Amino acid sequence: MPDPVVKPVGVALIGCGRISGAHLAAAAAVPDAVRIVATVDPDPAAAQAAAGPFGAAALTSMADALAMPEVEAVLIASPNALHGEQALAALAAGRHALVEKPLAETGAQARLLEAEAAKRGLVLAAGHTYRHNRAIVTLLDRMPDWGPLRAVSVTSCVFWDGPQAPWWATRSPEDGLILSLFAPHSLDFVQLVMGADDPLRVHAEAARWQPGWRGEDEAMILMAYPGRRMASVHISYNQRSVFDRKVLHFAGGVAEIEDGEVLKWNGEVLVSPSEGVLINPRRMGGRRTGHFFEQQLREFAAAVRGAPHRCPTGHDAARLIELIDQVKASARANSADAIRG
Ligand SMILES: NC(=O)c1ccc[n+]([C@@H]2O[C@H](COP(=O)([O-])OP(=O)(O)OC[C@H]3O[C@@H](n4cnc5c(N)ncnc54)[C@H](O)[C@@H]3O)[C@@H](O)[C@H]2O)c1
Repeated sequence: MPDPVVKPVGVALIGCGRISGAHLAAAAAVPDAVRIVATVDPDPAAAQAAAGPFGAAALTSMADALAMPEVEAVLIASPNALHGEQALAALAAGRHALVEKPLAETGAQARLLEAEAAKRGLVLAAGHTYRHNRAIVTLLDRMPDWGPLRAVSVTSCVFWDGPQAPWWATRSPEDGLILSLFAPHSLDFVQLVMGADDPLRVHAEAARWQPGWRGEDEAMILMAYPGRRMASVHISYNQRSVFDRKVLHFAGGVAEIEDGEVLKWNGEVLVSPSEGVLINPRRMGGRRTGHFFEQQLREFAAAVRGAPHRCPTGHDAARLIELIDQVKASARANSADAIRG
């Protein structure tokens, strides 16, 4: 846990759509860490509904939020294509930023943000919500005892019956669908366990099964890391029976994380979820995730106040987007769709 935060960080929520509910519920649960002081959405009713419970200013322009002195930080939860420009505007206005994944659409854009944050001494954090769960935190704390890591394999398969927001449908195959929206979670996990090393080689295959969007909805990624370590990631939007599993092969044995919540070491359960968290993990929505969002806000507030934290910031946040650039380039060259049969 980060050190206690002295004063709640004044936050403007940018984008009051689908995921904003999770952030707002988390903010309400951690009033010692953050205070929502403004909400912004082009739809005034959405901004108002989000602001109401907090007595915050409901706005339709981010510039108006950046003009408010009580806004110390922004939480960007707008469509992916806006993240880069909105984060840059916030940093240029001297505000810290927590940006929903992906931090930016391209590695070049992410590097610009990293440089701007460093120049101004501001926190630029990416919203890799899932890294804040107890199973992952415990794994990271314990893995130095388990000997060298040799291989990691991540499977994260869910089911979406078509676009969950209108902009999903219009993303081009070049922009990427699942590789932009869902891969960041799994690749952030790989980056966490591989430490400071980036992969030496990246190979990806991608395919589209559903007609409701243009981008890929299924992908497999294979990566070779220094020290003969390897990682594989399988992500899907087509799996009706939700499947979420991480397996790590160390010299000393095998660690597993099941359903994002259960950590096992050589079959022995080290971490299990609180009661009521895993309701039916094979179903969409069958797992409560509010605790990750709460912890993420606590960690971000700690980062803003200069305390130890576990948010991916600056360089680490940006290099993940460079990795996604490589994955997208490989997937474009290796579309499994193009193979006959
Ligand atoms: N961490 C997670 O687990 C998680 C889960 C879902 C979505 N996300 C991310 O959250 C982001 C939002 O996804 P969503 O599903 O809520 O999408 P959404 O379309 O439901 O919500 C986006 C909102 O942003 C608003 N918006 C559009 N232009 C804007 C602008 N210029 N300024 C401010 N707001 C603007 C839209 O009106 C909409 O209300 C995406 O980047 C997505 O990748 C993260």
